[in-house]
Order: sequence, then C-alpha cells, then structure tokens
Amino acid sequence: MPNVDLSPVRSQFPALALREADRPVVYFDGPGGTQVPQSVVDAMGRYLIHANANHGGAFRTSRESDAILAAAHEAMADLLNASSAEEIVFGANMTTLTFALSRAIGRELTPGDEIIITRLDHDANRAPWQALAELGVVVQEIDFDPADCTLRLDELGAKLNERTKLVAVGYASNAVGTVNPIAQIAKMAHAVGAWLWVDAVHYAPHGPIDVQTLDCDFLVCSPYKFFGPHAGVVWGRYNLLERLRAYKVRPAGNRPPDKFETGTQAHEAQAGTLAAVTYLAELGEEFGARFADQFPGFTGRRLALKQASAAIQSHERPLFERFVAGLLEIRGLSFYGIRDFNRFDQRTPTAAFRLNDRSPRQVEESLSQRGVYVWSGNFHAIAVTERLGLEASGGVVRAGLAHYNTQEEVDYCLTCLREIAAS
Ligand SMILES: Cc1ncc(COP(=O)(O)O)c(C=O)c1O
Repeated sequence: MPNVDLSPVRSQFPALALREADRPVVYFDGPGGTQVPQSVVDAMGRYLIHANANHGGAFRTSRESDAILAAAHEAMADLLNASSAEEIVFGANMTTLTFALSRAIGRELTPGDEIIITRLDHDANRAPWQALAELGVVVQEIDFDPADCTLRLDELGAKLNERTKLVAVGYASNAVGTVNPIAQIAKMAHAVGAWLWVDAVHYAPHGPIDVQTLDCDFLVCSPYKFFGPHAGVVWGRYNLLERLRAYKVRPAGNRPPDKFETGTQAHEAQAGTLAAVTYLAELGEEFGARFADQFPGFTGRRLALKQASAAIQSHERPLFERFVAGLLEIRGLSFYGIRDFNRFDQRTPTAAFRLNDRSPRQVEESLSQRGVYVWSGNFHAIAVTERLGLEASGGVVRAGLAHYNTQEEVDYCLTCLREIAAS
C-alpha cells in the first residue's frame, strides 16, 4: 500500500497546535473522540449566528437552517453510500439512537424471538438489545478468542436459527481494534432472515463505509469520532425505517427520518457534521486521487470520500506498524488484539496494552504528565475487559492513532513508555 503523508492537514486542526507546560500535546485519545478542523468550528458558529432557528418556518433563518439540515443528511448519505438522505437519522449520540431504535424494533418481536450480541462490542451495542429480554426476547451472546480478540464466527453460525431476528455487531472494537467481517456476518444473518445492526462508531474515522457492499440493515456512527461535533447518526434501509413504529409525538412527521428524529435536534451539530464530511471529501480530493481506481462506479463527493478513507488508511498503517513494533519491544508490556502485521487490515490503529505491574490508570497519568493523551479502563466495552480477565484490575491502556498523528508523536510516546517501564 502506498504511503500517504497527511501531516499537511494538521494545520487545519487548531487543537493540535495547543501546548501544555510548553510542550506539544500528543492526541492518542481519538477512539474516545477526535479533534476537529477549523472548518467544523466555523460552520457551527456560522449556523448559530446566521441560521439559528427551529424548522419549518417561512422566515429566512428557518429556511436556511432547514437547507443546512437537509445538506447534512445528504452528506452522511454520501459518506455511508446510502440510497437516499431519507435513510439518515440524526440524534444525540449512538447510544441514545440505539436505545430508541431497539425499542422500536422490540415492537416487532414476540416472546421467544432471539437476538444475538457479542462480547467484543461496546455496551451501547449490547445493553439496548439485552433490555428487550423484558419482552421475553432471548438474547444470545457470542464470544471472541482472547488470543487475538477476533470474533468466534463458529459460535455465530451455531447460534443463528429461524428464531433469530437480529444480530448486533460492531464494525470494529473500540477496545482492541479488531475489524469484524461484516459482509460475511450479513450473509450469515440474512440466511436465517435476521436483520444486521452494525455499530460503526470506532471504524468510521479509519476506513470506507459502504452499506450497499456490507449489505447490513442498520448502521450507526458518531460524528465526534470522525472529526465532527458530538452527535449520532443511524442509517437504516428505507423500507425498514418506514415499517418500524417509532416512539414519537403526534405532530412530528410520520416518515423517515422525521419520525425518529425526536424533538428538536442539535442543529449546529448537523452543520458541523456537514463540515466534517466536507473536510474529508477535500482530503480525499487532495491526497487520495491515486486510489480512485479502487472505487469503480463512484463519482463526485462519494468518490472523494472513498479516496479519503484510502488515503487515511495508507497514512495510518505504517505509523501503527511502527507503534506496535515499538510496543512489543518494551519489556513487561502485554499487548491485546491482533499483533501480526500481515493481518493489520483486520484491525484499526488502536492499541490496547498493559505495562508490567502498573495499573492502566497509572500509565495514563504518567503519559499525561508527559503531554501524551491516552485512555485507560474499559471505554464502556466492559464485556471485553471482563472476558480478558482485566476488568477488576483496571482494564487496559488504549492509545489510538488518527490520520492527524505523526511518526514523531509515535516515537515520542514509545520513548515515554520505555521511560515509565524503567522507572
Ligand atoms: C464502538 C463504539 N460504540 C458505541 C459508542 C458509543 O457512542 P456514543 O458516545 O455516540 O453514544 C462508542 C463510544 O466510545 C464506541 O466506541
């Protein structure tokens, strides 16, 4: 894969220039939320000054606001390769949307129906489905292999049956980075007539998402993980969104997406999401033209967004290989997840590890004192840290790369970790 240097984009992110104790800050906390380009900040400010209104009004600000919201839905449809903008539902965040849609899906289910969830998932793709047990729905769970943190598809095959109505699975694990074979899982789920709900929150900043190729039924992501503001987005097949009975107030529209966009939305966040997608499309045009051949049939912004993902992967991959190579050399470091470089297309650049007898929180604090921001704990993927037997002792340290990170930052973080390990 060609190596693309995306470091020129850094100047577009004001937060990357901030210093702490007269030192640059290294943001390896992206899996918890990424930094935003100035264009996102500007779009949100512009919205609040020039178009701040509720929707459906006859006056200028309301009409302009509605145009921005419509453009944000179009932009997300392009990012995910949806059939239409009506398939895009905005909401507060992935967790809230999943609870709302799971309850609507629950209205279709009868006692004895089954749902399959996984231990590799964030709790936001588990708890909403587990709650349906209150309706008599049987919730089955599939395991992952603790050796490399990959899903046990054999267990999925064994648990799928004619009573299975839905499979809920993550595109990628926010704890250990594993990318799951979604297209294959879709085939398995559809073979028994089940719907597939995909949590793409962790995958979205790292790779191209194409709901047509994946052939899933619902897919959810969060703009604040891909360089936008705090918000959530669900894509659903139009006929399914139309069919489901939403929990809604009577005057709200009865068609998708209106029936699921409960109350007044964070309009400025939609303006910011539109700007984040525009940022990615521009990145794709500037740095990803060489990847165009990989995406036959795509044109315009949809092609530019695919090119952006290819460029991002090409930037992140060698950086992450360097990072993992350095981590594995540190004495006393335990690494969780896929570590074979030949299989790195099956993972995101998110590393989970522990350092000798130090608690993950201690390592996070020591790194933070040196200006390196990482997370420690379970990141709400509590089933993962439980399965790995690490929950009671503080989970893992998680250092995640984004496309704005550099080789110097990787090397600096490794130096810090070596220092901490030796201290
Ligand atoms: C994989 C994954 N799923 C779901 C969530 C929850 O997303 P939100 O904060 O938008 O509710 C997160 C957040 O960290 C995540 O990483």
